Amino acid sequence: MYTLIKSLLFYLDPEVSHHLSLKILKLTHSLKLIRYKNLLSSQTIKLCGLTFPNQIGLAAGFDKNGDYIDALASFGFGFIEVGTVTLKPQLGNAKPRIFRLKQDNAIINRLGFNNKGCDYLIERLKKTKFKGILGINIGKGHTTTLNSASDEYVELFTKLFPYASYITINISSPNTKDLRELQHGNLLSSLLKKLKQTQTTLNQQYNKYVPLVVKISPDLSSTELTHIADIFLQEKIDAVIATNTTIGREGVTDALALETGGLSGKPLNKNSTSVIKQLNKLLANKIPIIASGGILNPQDALEKINAGASLVQIYTGLVYSGPRLIAQLVKHFEEAI
Ligand SMILES: Cc1cc2nc3c(=O)[nH]c(=O)nc-3n(C[C@H](O)[C@H](O)[C@H](O)COP(=O)(O)O)c2cc1C
Repeated sequence: MYTLIKSLLFYLDPEVSHHLSLKILKLTHSLKLIRYKNLLSSQTIKLCGLTFPNQIGLAAGFDKNGDYIDALASFGFGFIEVGTVTLKPQLGNAKPRIFRLKQDNAIINRLGFNNKGCDYLIERLKKTKFKGILGINIGKGHTTTLNSASDEYVELFTKLFPYASYITINISSPNTKDLRELQHGNLLSSLLKKLKQTQTTLNQQYNKYVPLVVKISPDLSSTELTHIADIFLQEKIDAVIATNTTIGREGVTDALALETGGLSGKPLNKNSTSVIKQLNKLLANKIPIIASGGILNPQDALEKINAGASLVQIYTGLVYSGPRLIAQLVKHFEEAI
């Protein structure tokens, strides 16, 4: 069924087909034409004080504004991450800005955090019926300077705290100028210190623990990873998502490789898994890892778990394989236990 839908959707511009398919999904869901899939793993996963019904999550960027949470939840995800959301609405980069590299099972995007802003997201979150694990991914605005970025993250963290199961600090998108600078040295440690202080205050205020998760880039050197891991351990962050998209083009054969932006999907897999392996050693089981990057089939997902990840997230795999991928991954994990 998805093969047929995909061949129709792939005729359209990727961004148009993304929004169209989500709108159709939402409509069919509201008309109760989609049956809710309850993919409960026989061994639920406890992580950061949260209980995940299965290990498969939706990666950030698929539903940036929280418009489709209930409909997407019907696919049976163990958790859903919305965003990246910024403090104020922003349009993102000029179109076209998403490219399908079909022969490589990959996507290049240079969206640049197009989103309707955190106030809009909050209104959506107030209306959702979803009771599962909901992550909110936050990022700095495109005109925000590096010096004022931490204040903006703190403000976003504070506003979104009541609605989140966990909050992801996105400092790894390649499409917002200078954003990745926040992954290094004093900028990283002072950002995380401020956020941890905010988290402690809010935990007491709301009597609720909201884990602080950081999403990192696959383009970090081994030395940079060592420094980052030290800071993560020092600041006691709750989990790491490894990884975001890459600016590299290794393993890409499609002519669209020349497009600027972050590459996701199959060609990202190896590099992203290598980051997980290195992090797993450096973090020595003290901070859990959530895998994201090039999971297109059950074998890919299992490799991430074997490399040290506790959970996985998918995005490009969902575009190429459709929602049945979620059930396939859950089933494969069950068999592998
Ligand atoms: C079109 C598109 C938009 C994305 N937007 C975001 C985003 O807003 N925030 C974020 O943290 N990651 C974003 N990502 C990265 C994904 O969440 C994921 O980390 C990455 O694509 C690697 O996973 P994949 O190979 O399964 O797609 C986006 C990816 C794509 C393809």
